[in-house]
This record gives sequence, C-alpha cells and structure tokens, in this order.
Amino acid sequence: MEGSKARRPDGQKGRRHESQTDRMPESPTVGKPEGTKALFRESPQTRKVDFVKTIVITSQKGGSGKTTLTAHLAVEAGRSGAGPVCVIDMDKQATLSRWHDRREEDSPERAPFPFHQLAAGLAKQKHQGTAICFIDTAPTISDQSSELQRLADLVLIPVRPSPADLWAVAETVRLVKQVGKPFLFIMTQAKAHANITAQTVAALSGHGRIAQSFIADRVAYAVAMTGGRTAPELAPKGAAADEIAALWTEVQSCIPRTRAAVLEEEVTHG
Ligand SMILES: Nc1ncnc2c1ncn2[C@@H]1O[C@H](COP(=O)(O)OP(=O)(O)OP(=O)(O)O)[C@@H](O)[C@H]1O
Ligand SMILES: [Mg+2]
Repeated sequence: MEGSKARRPDGQKGRRHESQTDRMPESPTVGKPEGTKALFRESPQTRKVDFVKTIVITSQKGGSGKTTLTAHLAVEAGRSGAGPVCVIDMDKQATLSRWHDRREEDSPERAPFPFHQLAAGLAKQKHQGTAICFIDTAPTISDQSSELQRLADLVLIPVRPSPADLWAVAETVRLVKQVGKPFLFIMTQAKAHANITAQTVAALSGHGRIAQSFIADRVAYAVAMTGGRTAPELAPKGAAADEIAALWTEVQSCIPRTRAAVLEEEVTHG
C-alpha cells in the first residue's frame, strides 16, 4: 500500500542519479519539437530547464490498453536501469493510481500532480533525479489532450487489432501531428495468426511508425495488474516478459536525446 512504501525525505521514492536516456541515440522518428508555444516561450527573461524525459500514452479509444501499457513500460524501464521512473495518472478513472496503490515495490514512483501544475511538476521531478516519466491519459479528447502532448518527448498510441480501434485512431493521430511530437503506434491485445492483426498493421503504417514488438492478448497482463504487479514480474521467463522487454528497448530508442525547452520562470516556480 502507498503508506507502507519507503519515501525519500522530500516525499518521493527512488534514488537520485543521472538519466541514462541522456545518452540515448537519436531516433529516426524524432524531429524538432514544435507547437510548444502554450507552455514554453523563448525570451531573454527565460532560462533553460533540463526536463525529465516524458512519455505520454494516449488514445481516444477506451480500453485500448493505455493503462496496462503505461504500468508495464514504467516497471520495465526501472528494471532495465533507465530510471528512476515516475508515473502520472491524468485519467479521472484513476486506474493507474489504483494499480499503484496496490503495489508494494518502490518503483515506479507516482507523482500526483494536478494538470495545471504538470509542467512545473516535471521540472521538479528532474531536479529530484527522475529520469523518465510516463503519463497515462483519459480516453477522451479535451483541451488537456494537446497540452499533455506538448509536454511529451514521445507519444505512444496503443491500438488493438479491430476496426473500431482503427476508425478511432485518426483523431488521435491528427492531434499528435498537430502538436508535432514524435509518436509510435503500439499493437496491443494482438491475437496470434489473426488476419485482422496484419490488416490493422497495414492500415496503420500509412499514418506513422508501428513498434515491431506487439503486446499479445494474454490473461497474464490483467491478472498481474489486479495485484499491483506486471506480467513480467510474475513470470520473468514468460512470453509477456520477452515482449515487454523488446518493446521497451524499441520505445527507448525513439526518445529524443534532448529537448531544448525553455520554460518561463513563473511556470517553473509557480
Ligand atoms: N495485452 C493484453 N491482453 C489481455 N488483456 C489486456 C491487455 N491489455 C489490456 N488488457 C485488458 O483490457 C482492458 C483495458 O485495458 P486498459 O485499462 O489498459 O485500457 P485503457 O486504454 O487504459 O482503458 P481506458 O480507455 O478505459 O482508460 C483491461 O481489462 C485490461 O486488463
Ligand atoms: Mg486507462
């Protein structure tokens, strides 16, 4: 439970050390971040702020696997040594928070920032030594959606192999492209040897890059989440462990090395 977890004196969990992602290679999908005007503005009065690497998981389709993906990648990132890692739950359903409450392990930390303090919160997380932050989002489009994506270094879009998911993806993609952030589709709940999986991949490839590692439809994912764990934690040698490890390696390679964000002083200290 939350209360039983070890905390640093500043109320956070995890060790302080340099981010390994600072040394990651440049991804071919990564372009110059655009569309950052709402929160970031360059002027002589502003100063450079070193940001935590931020991965936003988004999809307007309910149940596409956002929360499961967030939890599994966050745990895998910590396990692989890329942390310290934190998760932020921006969905009022609070599924990720509930998973985290059931969790006994220290990693990932959960940072409970309200939306309006998110930019300043991410800067604080960096100060406190967090290397990577995963933000889970709601299955809706709101004014917050594009603001959240502006904070991202990389946007992940989980898609199930189904016509409904495919039809819904266009709106998600339109928004991410508008904001100008690099994004990666992740095939989730994929059924082995199903034509629909190949058809979905073919249709998605016209919109953007798809991770080569798919997340299969496995009861193990749901079972593990119920107990605040992840499937690889319960079965380190299982098939889910292999696919999550491979997926994290791929996702990691897509995180831009640097973000030349300049944050307004009042946002940083607000
Ligand atoms: N790879 C998987 N295999 C089997 N079941 C899965 C998998 N991923 C997710 N699920 C199950 O599908 C359901 C939806 O997953 P999840 O909550 O992660 O989706 P979501 O996109 O976060 O949903 P919402 O849009 O409501 O926030 C859950 O019951 C979850 O346990
Ligand atoms: Mg969710």
